[in-house]
Amino acid sequence: MLRLRSLVVTVSIGCLALFAANCTSPAAAQASADLDPASRGTHLFLRHCAVCHGADGEADTLAANLLLPRPTAFRHGLFKLVSHRNGMPSDDDLVATLRRGMPGSTMMAWDWLPEADLRALAGVVRQLAVRGRATAIERTAAVTGQALTPAQARELAEQQLRPGAPVETGAPRPVDAALLAAGETLFQRHCASCHGADGRGLPGADEWPTDGTWLRPRDFTAGYLRGGATHQELACRIRAGMPGAHMPPVELAVAETEALVAYVQNLIPDAARRHHVQWRRTLRVERSAALPADGDAAGFDRIEAVRLPVAPLWWRAGAANEVWLRAAHDGEQLLLQLEWADGSRDERPRPEAVLGDGVAVQFARTEEPPLFAMGSTDAPVAIWRWQTFDPKSAAGQLDLTSSWPHTGIDVPIGVRSPAARGEAIEVTGVGTASGAVGSGRPLQVAARWRDDRWTVTFRRALHAGGPDEVDFKLGTPTLFALAVWNGSLDPNVASKVITTWHVLELQR
Ligand code: HEC
Ligand code: HEC
Repeated sequence: MLRLRSLVVTVSIGCLALFAANCTSPAAAQASADLDPASRGTHLFLRHCAVCHGADGEADTLAANLLLPRPTAFRHGLFKLVSHRNGMPSDDDLVATLRRGMPGSTMMAWDWLPEADLRALAGVVRQLAVRGRATAIERTAAVTGQALTPAQARELAEQQLRPGAPVETGAPRPVDAALLAAGETLFQRHCASCHGADGRGLPGADEWPTDGTWLRPRDFTAGYLRGGATHQELACRIRAGMPGAHMPPVELAVAETEALVAYVQNLIPDAARRHHVQWRRTLRVERSAALPADGDAAGFDRIEAVRLPVAPLWWRAGAANEVWLRAAHDGEQLLLQLEWADGSRDERPRPEAVLGDGVAVQFARTEEPPLFAMGSTDAPVAIWRWQTFDPKSAAGQLDLTSSWPHTGIDVPIGVRSPAARGEAIEVTGVGTASGAVGSGRPLQVAARWRDDRWTVTFRRALHAGGPDEVDFKLGTPTLFALAVWNGSLDPNVASKVITTWHVLELQR
């Protein structure tokens, strides 16, 4: 069910308004109320989380192999964002993580789900962690010849995962030179060995080899904070560490914590604090009298551009981190223009090239699509795609084993070879990008590369030409998500960056 609780962006010619909206659909609220919290949690987990974390929370999934950092395997009971001294998360910690996501990874924000659903999901995560710990405890007991029933093992696991005393965070103090100097001394003593003397991380850390776990100390100026930059949040990171990551807890007095937090906050530019959070946005697009023609720069300039943060599947510092979107309609046609930075134009196939530069807009054809790319068999998505050249693929197959050896994947993923450079396709899940081609309603695409940026404009009639295409109804929200490829990195999975689902609402 479509549940929209998100940042709303009204797009119209020459006018942009930002306001909060809470438009939970009545049908969705009803369906949610029909299930008890545990069943609702399981339903949501299988729908949205299992693709990456696995139905059993083992994170041993096809998608997980394509992602860096790797999705967390809950069985270990290690969570990075905790506010308790024993390093265990409270349900509040888990809910806060779900609401904000973990910028710098593909763990998106679930801010659009109601509080009750987030609590239910936190409950599922905790149960999976308890189950994993209990299994480990039982195994140890068996090896050491201890008599332990499954119920006892479970109880022990629950105890171990229970959050202890909260971290003593202190409170923000008025910032002056003395406080910052005290903070800096602590920083150089406890933190600089990993985060660098200037807080920008260690040089070359991006190139460190990794098995999918995150080894790289954060560059505080880059704005990728998994857990936010408030006093409370930073104090928790410092005092509780980030369990499961290579970020140790540090024992400090409260006054020291306060000084160090003030110093670290000072290293984080304001603009960077929320820059990469993948909150869902709603774009309300007012009706225009006429759409600008290709090449009518002034016409496009009058359409407000909305910034959507993107996350690379395989994280790297230089990946595109935002796409600017312009949307307009005149009651007959929809125009979407996407613009993003790409310092190299990859237009010619090379021996190792698979896709070249490209972009895809994915539209949900059902009300509650799985978050992560490409739909599922019961929730197909429609995709508008443009690539600089037709994918290289003899039999329409991209052999991931040889192309991406680090992923350990041995099932080939089908990649359909488009008939033209711009096309509409329907797909039904990761690895099935070979669904039926849209029934031929023309999708017009115009692309331009200038000043190290691509601008790609799609135009299509609002009404679908066939059952496998997306039909835009005025006043009815449509979920959409974006993907952008950088052909210089072909065929590495790192060439792809994605957004979460956002909402497009064409006004009457
Ligand atoms: C697209 C893949 C993807 C999906 C879908 C996804 N996650 Fe994650 N999740 C990740 C990644 C990647 C990480 C690890 C981030 C890191 O370590 O920095 C993560 C981490 C987490 C963590 C660990 C938090 C911590 O403090 O360390 C929790 C809990 C979590 N996810 C819950 C969920 C839940 C619940 C859902 C569904 C509502 C979900 N995830 C959906 C990719 C995903
Ligand atoms: C042994 C190396 C190491 C030391 C010492 C260390 N860190 Fe970290 N730190 C890391 C790593 C690695 C990460 C990234 C963890 C991740 O994202 O999985 C990190 C992440 C962070 C973050 C980001 C949290 C977020 O929300 O993304 C903050 C803030 C931080 N460290 C502060 C500090 C401070 C302050 C100190 C000194 C008290 C410190 N660290 C000491 C390795 C270290």
